[in-house]
Amino acid sequence: MRVLFVGDVYGKTGRQMIDEYLPRLKSAYKPNVTIINGENSAHGKGITETIYKQLMRAGADAITMGNHTWDNKEIFEFIDRADHMVRPANYPKGTPGQGLIFLNRNGVEIAIINLQGRVFLPAIDCPFAAADELIKKARAKTSLIFVDFHAETTSEKLAMGWYLDGRVSAVVGTHTHVPTADERILEQGTAYLTDVGMTGPYNGIIGVQRDAVIHRFKTSMPVRFESETGPGQLCAVVIDIDKATGKATAIKRHFINPDHPFYE
Ligand SMILES: [Fe+2]
Repeated sequence: MRVLFVGDVYGKTGRQMIDEYLPRLKSAYKPNVTIINGENSAHGKGITETIYKQLMRAGADAITMGNHTWDNKEIFEFIDRADHMVRPANYPKGTPGQGLIFLNRNGVEIAIINLQGRVFLPAIDCPFAAADELIKKARAKTSLIFVDFHAETTSEKLAMGWYLDGRVSAVVGTHTHVPTADERILEQGTAYLTDVGMTGPYNGIIGVQRDAVIHRFKTSMPVRFESETGPGQLCAVVIDIDKATGKATAIKRHFINPDHPFYE
């Protein structure tokens, strides 16, 4: 089972990168399942139902989310009918949406889990305890389990990777928008990458217009964040999973941008 995961799609530039490169990535790597993190896909904050449908039409099988899930208020109207959306599972009981979904590919089930870290992010339930519970639920059906851990710090993400090593097929990090180069398969067979990186404006600061961010750092004054314009980038990872064991057998990272064009 091959999974293609695309990191945080940010605003219009990110969506354009999906339209341009997702078909090319899919024809080059032929994934069985494609997952996109879409928590920044509407102007950098949250997602709308139209964009959710656009991303699914563009070739996603599931959309994972993060701390910006709730930023576009429209989410509360459609999240419960968005069957292929996975929001962080460790929000309190009663939170709309779902933190675990299953997809079936030719009789093989894969579980997709989204979790959110607690360091420099809102105080929610423990992602490690939530992972234990969800893995129990997922394992009743399948040993193929993919985790998007949306978290700020490299240490919290590494801790999650090692904590889940051998119990899930993959742990990939999202949220910082800056890709890390530490993709590997951990000792017990879990594919791991601290942060996949962002799909959006290449010349901004984590997607945002850089002048505004620099102004804020220099003055500590509030500024309005708009998406940076100009060329885009796409960050993704391709992971192969042995369908008999649920263990990962390969992981390959992609960072497509004007300095590193994509060649099939
Ligand atoms: Fe985030």
